[in-house]
Amino acid sequence: MAFFTELGDRVVGAPSILAADFANLAAEVRQAAEGGAELVHFDAMDNHFVPNLTVGPAVAASLVEAVDLPVDAHLMVDNPDNLIQPFIEAGVTSISVQPEAVTHLHRILEVIRNGGCEAGVALNPTTPPEFIEWALPYLDYILVMSVNPGFGGQSFIPEMVEKVRRIKQMTDLPVQVDGGITEETAPLMAEAGAQVLVAGSAVYKGDPATEMRKIIEAARRAAG
Ligand code: DX5
Ligand code: ZN
Repeated sequence: MAFFTELGDRVVGAPSILAADFANLAAEVRQAAEGGAELVHFDAMDNHFVPNLTVGPAVAASLVEAVDLPVDAHLMVDNPDNLIQPFIEAGVTSISVQPEAVTHLHRILEVIRNGGCEAGVALNPTTPPEFIEWALPYLDYILVMSVNPGFGGQSFIPEMVEKVRRIKQMTDLPVQVDGGITEETAPLMAEAGAQVLVAGSAVYKGDPATEMRKIIEAARRAAG
């Protein structure tokens, strides 16, 4: 199943599970889907690359079975090599790795693609776009972190708008943004060229369908 390669010029929303109720994950994702979400953003953390610990392939597999939306795994883990195959087998449709945590990026991107998934990189706020210039042919999307990875509910880093713009000058690959995305910041990112708006706390702070819809609509108005 392809998501990013079939996105065209559409702007879409994705709830981040990090802010959802983990005991009711599927129901929480379905609520965001009612608000127009088209992708689920699945945050895996290892307490090494980031100082937090979340969920892995077993939970991803259950979620894939339980919801209709494609599941996108964002791996915030050191040396993710051993986790790629389990996530592919879990049925996720795309996997992004943090290049800062990977020794052999070319190889890992090929493993992701050879497993039938779309491959992405997630860039920390201070990682320059040029760092992944030579990886572009092996990528299906780029994730721009607009907070430091590890926790939900952090403040949006405004310089990341310019980073999205710079990346869109480098490549036509779709850009996903993650961290501090709200009804106020989503339009800034969409105007700069971001197409996949990930939001955790802004979606789950209230009624997920209503909040998701507000973010998607604000972003679409700005994208024009
Ligand atoms: C942060 C995660 C995000 C997180 C975003 O490390 O990658 O996906 O859930 O949370 P908010 O939307 O609350 O900034
Ligand atoms: Zn994330």
